[in-house]
Amino acid sequence: MDSIQRRMVELRSSLARRIVGQQPLLDRMVVALLTGGHLLVEGLPGLAKTTAVKALAHAVHASFQRVQFTPDLLPGDITGGDVFLPAEGRSRFVAGPLFHDIVLADEINRAPAKVQSALLEAMQERQVTVGGTTHALPPLFLVMATQNPLEQSGTYPLPEAQLDRFLLHVVLDYPSEAQERSILDKDLADAVSARERAAAQPPVDAATVLEARAEVRCVHLAESLRDAIVTLVRATRDPERHDASRVGLVAAGASPRAMLALAHAAQALAYLRGRDYVIPDDIVELAPDVLRHRIVLNLEAELRGVDADALIGQLLQRCSFD
Ligand SMILES: Nc1ncnc2c1ncn2[C@@H]1O[C@H](COP(=O)(O)OP(=O)(O)OP(=O)(O)O)[C@@H](O)[C@H]1O
Ligand SMILES: [Mg+2]
Repeated sequence: MDSIQRRMVELRSSLARRIVGQQPLLDRMVVALLTGGHLLVEGLPGLAKTTAVKALAHAVHASFQRVQFTPDLLPGDITGGDVFLPAEGRSRFVAGPLFHDIVLADEINRAPAKVQSALLEAMQERQVTVGGTTHALPPLFLVMATQNPLEQSGTYPLPEAQLDRFLLHVVLDYPSEAQERSILDKDLADAVSARERAAAQPPVDAATVLEARAEVRCVHLAESLRDAIVTLVRATRDPERHDASRVGLVAAGASPRAMLALAHAAQALAYLRGRDYVIPDDIVELAPDVLRHRIVLNLEAELRGVDADALIGQLLQRCSFD
């Protein structure tokens, strides 16, 4: 491990000192940071989504902004817009809340389609165009969007085609009983050690993250694993070829973008685990989060009680990752 990689591994450990459990979320936040990807996080309230992403922003000295999505939000409320300044006799662009390194887009499915589109477009292009002028977003720019799985009334589900813009779709669960007890202990102890914690922050800055990103792109991905990734992603489009009992369950499978996302995310996870090469476990671990939001199942699947996770599990067993 070189020093940059060691600092990123240390950054990952520093998050674990702040958040109890939720290891998959912490891993995936750093994977997104290291690949320039974005996260869609689904979880009930109070599972440390905000705390975790704030801790990440703090650990990389990034500017942080939370945006609460609501039905009355307009695209300009997140992107910013041209404002006429009478004193100067002209308009000037005033940047919206998207112009931050790390943006928490809370309850993204509460805003209407045009606001979601503005966000997803900015995520994809890493820039915002207003009045014919393009404004670049910061180089780190990472969006963590949240969805509450319980509340469906009065929400606007994200269009399936746009979900592809998220590198990973992470599903959170409650902590275990022991973890929940540690959360309480930590809460009580934190009041005591707040000052020590502030001093213990690892000095990682944006430039270091960008260097780490370049290193992640060079993590070795063996020929056999490249083949396996392509086979797995193609199998989501055509699962019946891999299992006779699953005839016609998929309306749309994962895209080439998903295929690249799986490769890049696996490289970042390998890097975080201190290696300079991907192993099959990296791919197997991340495949559900890369694929679950990009597979559209049809009615037949719903009737048979098959969901995307079940299908991905089946396909992973069938594709060879050795
Ligand atoms: N795993 C955990 N480790 C440490 N603290 C936790 C954990 N889970 C919850 N907490 C604590 O619970 C409180 C709520 O967390 P937080 O606000 O981050 O939740 P959230 O997922 O953003 O909720 P919401 O969906 O309502 O925005 C915080 O005080 C946080 O420190
Ligand atoms: Mg929150």
